[in-house]
Amino acid sequence: VPGRFIVVDGVDGAGKSTLAAALAARIEAAGLPVVQVREPGGTPIAERARAILLDTRSALTPASELFLLLAARSDLVGRVIEPALADGRIVISDRFELSTMAYQVSGRRLPRATVVAANRLATGGLRPDLTLILDVPVDVSRRRRAATGKPLDRLELESVDFARRVNRFFRAAKGRRIVHLDGTLPPDRVMTEAWDVVNARLPETLSVRAG
Ligand SMILES: Nc1ncnc2c1ncn2[C@@H]1O[C@H](COP(=O)(O)OP(=O)(O)O)[C@@H](O)[C@H]1O
Ligand SMILES: [Mg+2]
Repeated sequence: VPGRFIVVDGVDGAGKSTLAAALAARIEAAGLPVVQVREPGGTPIAERARAILLDTRSALTPASELFLLLAARSDLVGRVIEPALADGRIVISDRFELSTMAYQVSGRRLPRATVVAANRLATGGLRPDLTLILDVPVDVSRRRRAATGKPLDRLELESVDFARRVNRFFRAAKGRRIVHLDGTLPPDRVMTEAWDVVNARLPETLSVRAG
């Protein structure tokens, strides 16, 4: 059985990392092989790109930012995601291509068609089987992010207007393999809803194999 590729996406503070970890634990508990990754990152090269991307001292042009992100994605897809899927594993990624459309197209205003084509080059055409978007209002994400006490990274220091454009993109994102979840619900409710969606959308992977 080929693996399945599940992505959790949304703005900073939406609860992506929390949900991705809970989903991975749940799938593992069901006895299925799972691999958890986050973007940008997940390989030595991608982690180096991540460090540049998040460093507040990096002055990057929008195109340079895009290429660093896509360099990281290409490395992660080639070295980790594709081999895991070929091996029948379930891959859970914290962010993927929708984040690029949200931050680099809606946020940075890079031309959409060009970014889509460049992304396709980076992914080799690999698409998620399911993308769960956690919807939260801008003020909720800012409040949660502030409450963690961690210093803001380069992208988090962008203007409120930038954050609004990113948020608007995620809220409006539609597709056959995209499902929106209410990220303002408590973590256990978000997890329950996500698990229901995963079982409904990928039954041949989870319900059947896990019994
Ligand atoms: N559903 C939720 N309700 C309330 N707080 C949450 C929820 N999910 C996560 N959090 C908290 O909000 C903060 C950001 O969550 P995190 O999972 O790191 O978000 P992201 O990875 O999307 O930036 C953390 O302190 C986390 O504990
Ligand atoms: Mg996170």
